[in-house]
Amino acid sequence: MKGNFTIFAGTANPQLAAGVARSLGVQLGACTVERFPDGEISVRIKEPVRGREVFILQPTSPPVNDHLVELLAFADACRRASAAQLTAVVPYFGYARSDKRENRREPIMASLVAGLMQTVGVNHVVTIDLHASQIEGFFHIPVDSLTTAPLLAQALTQRLPDKLAVVSPDAGRVRMATEYGRRLGAPLVVLHKRRESGTETEVTHLVGDVRDRACLIVDDMISTGGTIVESVEALRTAGARKEIIVVATHGLLLTGARDKLTRAGVSEICVTDTVAVSEPDWPQLRIVSVAPLLAAALRRFLADRSLSDLC
Ligand code: R5P
Repeated sequence: MKGNFTIFAGTANPQLAAGVARSLGVQLGACTVERFPDGEISVRIKEPVRGREVFILQPTSPPVNDHLVELLAFADACRRASAAQLTAVVPYFGYARSDKRENRREPIMASLVAGLMQTVGVNHVVTIDLHASQIEGFFHIPVDSLTTAPLLAQALTQRLPDKLAVVSPDAGRVRMATEYGRRLGAPLVVLHKRRESGTETEVTHLVGDVRDRACLIVDDMISTGGTIVESVEALRTAGARKEIIVVATHGLLLTGARDKLTRAGVSEICVTDTVAVSEPDWPQLRIVSVAPLLAAALRRFLADRSLSDLC
């Protein structure tokens, strides 16, 4: 492994960055981030990066725009200070859901974000369970999207009820849910979801059989919790047992999500720490760290080794 590298942590998830650095046996790079009263951000890199391979760890989680600008500021500072290689490690990629135009006269925000990262000199992006794999096409630099399915399926495997169905809450998650089904030996059920707005969804169809089965709903993110609540209702109406477990990579868990999921009677929610956890004292919430996964990926970049079993 090359030794000539530095990892900087933005303010979005310093605990995760510390976990990655610990796994690699290094200290995080010295830097400060300040927010001025008018909302502007000031980033200072406090050690030389000339000729070094730099990793900037910053999920663009809420507040998305602040965390994104901070990441861009880090990258700009490192490029101007002559870093040799700049990798943005973005465990949660904000704006990923805006990957196409639903209507005319709309932006494609994921493409805009890709353009911004490349403009400031990022030349490699590492992310986790990217919402839609075609987002990679917005970049002309390498993008590695790591998968958490092996990690999370392994974490769940001892605790799952018998006679389980794995549920994809919409068409976009079929591939991910199929992978969980394969790993857990459970049949797949697919829901068709119509999104009415950013906070409202409706399940219109259910494909598969959930009668007398416990369900594991698989999603890439829980934001408001609306998708999960609608899915739970549809599964119960179709005769599912009361044990419903949810596994999702990115636990954004915005205000109100906890109440919704609790009212829906979800038995367990398993997420990773790609996004800093906002609800640490929630008994039904289980958090699995992606620090070892990211550290394994970084080790391979630094040794020019293949990543294929992590993606
Ligand atoms: C949608 O396509 C995503 O995969 C998630 O299902 C969705 O973004 C979750 O958001 P919410 O929790 O607000 O329904």
